[in-house]
Amino acid sequence: MSEKFDPKIIAFFCNWCTYGGADLAGVSRLQYPPNIRVIRIPCTGRLDPKFILGAFRHGADGVWVSGCHPGDCHFIAGNYYARRKFALFKGLLEHMGIEPGHLQFSWISSAEATKFQQVVTEVTNDIKALGPSPHFQKHLAEVA
Ligand code: FES
Repeated sequence: MSEKFDPKIIAFFCNWCTYGGADLAGVSRLQYPPNIRVIRIPCTGRLDPKFILGAFRHGADGVWVSGCHPGDCHFIAGNYYARRKFALFKGLLEHMGIEPGHLQFSWISSAEATKFQQVVTEVTNDIKALGPSPHFQKHLAEVA
């Protein structure tokens, strides 16, 4: 893959944890790749798989979902539901011939600015290594 490939990554962050971690990383002036576009959601349990498909269909090279650590979800079990949906959806992507690495999931609390910096760098590098996902967009264009 060309060194110039600069992925667009749509990041769905839980308002109560990862969004706060991203904010703390910014306030702490931690440097991280500028490839993510953040969409704040009330809980990862709210994430509809259609949001992920929509992001890819609109040209995202990757989607990253991040929420509260197990046991810390403000809605008790939203992150467990999200993890189940995520595992199923990754399988579906694989079935469609899409590298599952285009979809990433993590747990980051609002106090973990350094972890946020580390994970955003890893997610960006992983998606950069995979390259754009033209097959996915082509497939959806055929379906539409
Ligand atoms: Fe953060 Fe549920 S409130 S994942």
